[in-house]
Amino acid sequence: MRHAPIDSKLFVDNRRRLGEMLPPTAVAVVNANDVLPTNADGSLPLHANADLFYLTGVEQEESILVLAPNAAEEKHREILFLREPSELLKTWEGHKLGKDEASSISGVKTIKWLGDFRTVFHQLMCEAEHVCLNSNEHARSSREVETRDERFVADCRRRYPLHSYHRLAPLLHRLRLVKSPPELELLERAIKITEDGFRRVLPFVRPDVNECEVEAEFIHEFTRQRAKFAYAPIVAGGANACVLHYIANDQPCRDGDLLLLDVGASYANYNADLTRTIPINGRFTKRQRDVYEAVLRVMRASIAGAVVGKINRDWRREAQAMMNDELLRLGLLTDEDLAKPHDPDEPPCRKYFMHGLGHPLGLDVHDVGSPHAPFEAGWVITVEPGIYIPDEGLGVRIENDVLITADGPVDLMANIPVEAEEIEALMQGR
Ligand code: GLY
Ligand code: MN
Ligand code: MN
Repeated sequence: MRHAPIDSKLFVDNRRRLGEMLPPTAVAVVNANDVLPTNADGSLPLHANADLFYLTGVEQEESILVLAPNAAEEKHREILFLREPSELLKTWEGHKLGKDEASSISGVKTIKWLGDFRTVFHQLMCEAEHVCLNSNEHARSSREVETRDERFVADCRRRYPLHSYHRLAPLLHRLRLVKSPPELELLERAIKITEDGFRRVLPFVRPDVNECEVEAEFIHEFTRQRAKFAYAPIVAGGANACVLHYIANDQPCRDGDLLLLDVGASYANYNADLTRTIPINGRFTKRQRDVYEAVLRVMRASIAGAVVGKINRDWRREAQAMMNDELLRLGLLTDEDLAKPHDPDEPPCRKYFMHGLGHPLGLDVHDVGSPHAPFEAGWVITVEPGIYIPDEGLGVRIENDVLITADGPVDLMANIPVEAEEIEALMQGR
């Protein structure tokens, strides 16, 4: 693994917390992600399964975690099944986890090879009443490709139709939303690496540089700090910034335009999510700066409003009310626009600010958790208002990551330059 070793206590504690939520005599199973095929014999690099990582720290393909907290045999209460290393695998794919190594990463004492899975799992199923299986229940996930967990669910239900089946996902979502101190340290590391990438890019950006060269500066900084991109980065000059999921990053940066950078590092699978919008020639025009300051005011007020007990919908509506006023001041909306009756989910500002205000962040960039649950201490969320004006060839988004605490919100990106003057000074080498 690329990141520094993590104290296995994090994963031991996570398994203990999950174990306490399981029904009695339950068996719970979490599978690794598939290595996804591309063309011919090609495949994508493995994307670690966030739930498996959360519970074990293991990122190796085909791994299976089985938890049976009430199993008669103590050594069967936590078992991690792994591919058996061999000379052949070593030659073609390189190092695979050995038993001692997997145990030291995860804190799981019983490590077995996958060849033993069927027999041991059958023994555990004969003792169990309840089976808790995993599923990807993100509300916005595309459901086209069957996951390894889904195939396991289908196979398990066919072999053991009379057990009582439960969803593991809601339990894992509740746990994963609240970040523990060691998780926060990893997130803060991802945020610091992201900051270093942004500071490297500021003096680099100038007219005629290509968006992809800016992307290259980020990945250079992230890779040398043992991180990766948390998501396909958005490096969008001028009107490209109005394409919310722009990832082509292949156009020259034009003198006089803004450049929107939505780029985050992933360190040890914990993700940062930053957006900054900067002037390509190092100086905002009056109009660009007015739009920029409007977005910044809404971001600051929305960070202050991210308090325990707030529901995302109410938080978003507060931001939308502020945004309506900002857009009026910018001449983009009129008093008549604001006076017209409207559905509360379709305020006038949605013409220029058409996406959500923020999302939970963690082992997934759009992290798991109910979008309707009130904010709790320990959640990390993004705050990301924007104004997009295709007719003026400009889009501004500013995005920070925020920890919600009982004493109020903590801006985890407070050190990352955001004031227009500071950005201009750093771009001009001042
Ligand atoms: N970078 C994805 C997002 O901001 O949600
Ligand atoms: Mn983002
Ligand atoms: Mn985001």
